Parts: sequence; structure tokens; C-alpha cells
Amino acid sequence: MKILITGCNGQLGNEMQLLEKENQQHTYFNTDVAELDITDEAAINRFVADNEIDGIVNCAAYTAVDKAEENQELCHKLNATAPGLLAKAIEKRGGWMIQISTDYVFDGTNHRPYTEEDSVCPNSTYGRTKLAGEQEVTSGCQRSMIIRTAWLYSTFGNNFVKTMIRLGKEKPELGVIFDQIGTPTYARDLAVAIFAAINQGIVPGIYHFSNEGVISWYDFTKAIHRIAGIKDCKVRPLHTTEYPTPAARPHYSVLDKTKIKQTYNIEIPYWEESLEQCIDKLGL
Ligand SMILES: NC(=O)c1ccc[n+]([C@@H]2O[C@H](COP(=O)([O-])OP(=O)(O)OC[C@H]3O[C@@H](n4cnc5c(N)ncnc54)[C@H](OP(=O)(O)O)[C@@H]3O)[C@@H](O)[C@H]2O)c1
Repeated sequence: MKILITGCNGQLGNEMQLLEKENQQHTYFNTDVAELDITDEAAINRFVADNEIDGIVNCAAYTAVDKAEENQELCHKLNATAPGLLAKAIEKRGGWMIQISTDYVFDGTNHRPYTEEDSVCPNSTYGRTKLAGEQEVTSGCQRSMIIRTAWLYSTFGNNFVKTMIRLGKEKPELGVIFDQIGTPTYARDLAVAIFAAINQGIVPGIYHFSNEGVISWYDFTKAIHRIAGIKDCKVRPLHTTEYPTPAARPHYSVLDKTKIKQTYNIEIPYWEESLEQCIDKLGL
């Protein structure tokens, strides 16, 4: 198949590119904004038609959750309108699309892991625009999968893991939120799951994906520091109220991954094992 990857310079886009080497039965068109701006409808239609694209994995997005509150228009354009344009373009060719979404479509008031059937209720601009993107893709392309993920990190780009390593080396003390509960996702593991779907065949619908396990950001930081060998930084637990941010975050966003595991017969690694692998690759 001829597969278009958008946002290839991001965390997930880079992990996809690495795994392409192990999936050489397909031809890949790796693009970021310089090669294909996903807000440019004419450019998308031309690219998809000229290159006879069979499927799209949309890794591009507006991911600055707090900045989104003051850039609502741009955020909506990138997270909602643009995925809809990609979906319509690939639908014309009878192709498929994988759209990546987020745990922020939920308000975080659950006390048990969210399934794909749970009702959505985003409480941030980022969450609302990503939900609108899910709807655009689902209505625009019949053979589409929405994969909601959470707390994404990678050796590529900027993320929580890299920030905590840097701060842990710089500061004697650090406060981190302990009353937001979820599960981290190593972008490489998500890319492995995406390739399972591509190779086994697109089964349309919504899916949840993160690593296995449940922790708080505080626990995550403690583990990051332990694995990275950072001993001289004291990590203090903070309430969300002690660390106000422009965008509200869900207090609880653990995702139930039963559907994707059963559909594609995949095993998902435990968060700590994947974190060890990522930090190992960072070469600390
Ligand atoms: N990061 C998380 O914690 C998290 C959590 C849940 C879900 N997700 C979702 O997971 C997916 C992948 O996230 P990620 O962390 O890998 O994102 P990322 O690192 O921010 O990468 C997004 C990429 O899209 C590019 N892009 C921006 N505008 C574009 C345009 N108009 N046309 C084409 N490309 C454009 C960005 O370029 P610039 O950098 O130049 O803007 C960047 O390279 C996204 O759908 C995100 O919403 C992420």
C-alpha cells in the first residue's frame, strides 16, 4: 500500500518512520507542514491523487494544550477541520485513515477505566477540537479508525519525560501533581499498534491505547528519576490547585484497552518497562 504519514517530525511521526524500516512491504510518504500542510485542502487532494495514496496516518495536530486556550481558531483548524479534509480526500479513493485522538475528550470524573462507549465531555479547547476531529474523520471516511491515546512521550520532541530529567538535574526540589491519574504511552508502542492495524486490516471505529498500568504524574516523575539515576532532586506531591494551568486536565483518564487488544491480538507493554526502554535509548 501507499501510505501517507502526516506530522512526521513529531513524537509519533518519528516513531512511525523508524518502524517503516520493519514494514517495507508498503511505500511511505512522510510529510510534515513543509511537505504537506494539512490545512490546505487543494494540496491534500493533489497529494493524495497524484501519489495514489491508499491510507493516511494523521500524526499532525495542535498539541500545545495550554496555548490552545488563546489560539482556539488555529487549534480547531488543525485538530478538527484538517483531519476532515484528509478523511474526505482519502474517501474519494476508497482508502482508509487512522486519526490519533486523546483522553482529553473525557472530563475525568470516572472511577474506572474509560471504554470507547463512555460518554465524552471535554473540558478544554484542545479536548473539544480533538473530539470534533474524531467526528469529522468518522463522517468523512468510512474506513477510519480513531485511536485515543494519553500522556505520550518518546525519545523525539519535547515531552514530560525529557522535561523531568532536565529539571531533576537542574533543581534540588520539584513539585509534581499527584491527584491526576492516568497511564503514560511510549509513542513507539503506539506506532507498533498502528502497524498491527495497518497490516491486519482496518476495522473501523474508536479505540483506546496507552501502556498498561495506572499512575499519577508524581509517581511517573519518581520512576523517571529512579531509572535515569537522578538522586539529588526531592520530588514533592502537589494538588492540581497548587499548579494552575490555563487548560483544565482530567483528574482521571485511565483508558480501557480491551477493544484494541482483542481486535488485533496485541499485547501492550507495562508503562515502567517501556519507560526504561525509552530512557535507555536517550543514552543517559
Ligand atoms: N503529546 C501527548 O501527550 C498526546 C496525548 C494524547 C494524544 N496525543 C495525540 O497524538 C498525536 C501525536 O502527538 P505528538 O505528541 O506526536 O505531536 P507533536 O510531537 O506535537 O507532532 C505534531 C506534528 O505535526 C506538525 N504540524 C503542525 N501543523 C501542521 C500542519 N499544518 N500540517 C502538517 N503538519 C503539521 C508539527 O509541526 P510543528 O512542530 O512545526 O508545529 C509536528 O511535527 C496527536 O494527534 C496528538 O493530539 C498526544
